[in-house]
Amino acid sequence: MPLPFKHLVSTRQLTRKDTDLIMSVSADMEQVLKKGGSDLLKGKILASLFYEPSTRTRLSFETAMLRLGGTKVTADGLQFSSLYKGESVEDTMVVASQYADIICMRHPEQGSAERAAKVSSVPFINAGDGPGQHPTQALLDLYTIQKERKKVDGLRIAMVGDLKFGRTVHSLSYLLGLYKDIHCTLVSPKELTMPEKVTSYYKEKGISFTETDDLEDALKADVLYVTRVQKERFDDPKEYERLKLKYIVRKEFAEKTKATIMHPLPRVGEITNDVDVLPNAAYFRQAGNGIAVRMALVAMLLGKA
Ligand code: NCD
Repeated sequence: MPLPFKHLVSTRQLTRKDTDLIMSVSADMEQVLKKGGSDLLKGKILASLFYEPSTRTRLSFETAMLRLGGTKVTADGLQFSSLYKGESVEDTMVVASQYADIICMRHPEQGSAERAAKVSSVPFINAGDGPGQHPTQALLDLYTIQKERKKVDGLRIAMVGDLKFGRTVHSLSYLLGLYKDIHCTLVSPKELTMPEKVTSYYKEKGISFTETDDLEDALKADVLYVTRVQKERFDDPKEYERLKLKYIVRKEFAEKTKATIMHPLPRVGEITNDVDVLPNAAYFRQAGNGIAVRMALVAMLLGKA
């Protein structure tokens, strides 16, 4: 069954039917992975264009493509890119979509993904557009929540850290709106609260939420989603330094909560390393899930799953 769209730009475009389908194909892809992969995408090329740093997202997109028998061409790092020379996103896309069968792109400007998708003649996937959206991360987060908690409906989700600039919490919020009886506890310093466009979406979808600056308020959550303060979005480095480690999930805290602890990674001190051994520390399993979910997305957008 194909997805009813050609490009994946934002989680706002997804329906519950779409997420159910993506979750189910991702579970199938986990089985494919266990068998060592397949040649479903033999002869297909992924262009992976990263104009902003990335480790997991880029590696997992490329690994997903290779595990399905496809191949990839890469341009990463501003210094190598046409962006550096001043080429528009649109021009880059018109050209890349003649070279590859599918494109994923990360770019520092919010809205760049939408512009890229408009001119791409092949399926386009947003791998993060500045502080805007990161839909594939949100889908792998959803997959992880479902796998770790056996359900999504009725969960209490605490999001901690940089809720203003963190694109992963924005994208995840729009997916939570597709589920029932969700409660969000939003823990952030007052300078980094969840944007109004997201909280008004919560209201529209009947997601109850509380905003707080106290991490203790997250203890009763089912999922504790921790984020990094997004250094690259600050104009004033002193402001970043002041806010960067307002919240640290330490072992004593992690042992007091039954919550599944998640983080999109990279962490830069928000969760101490001694938490890693706890059974509820799910962030490395979460990163691992990125392969199956991206295999599902690439295959489905290419009409092959
Ligand atoms: C996130 C991102 O790029 O938005 N990382 C990722 O994709 N795993 C989170 C972050 O950089 O803080």
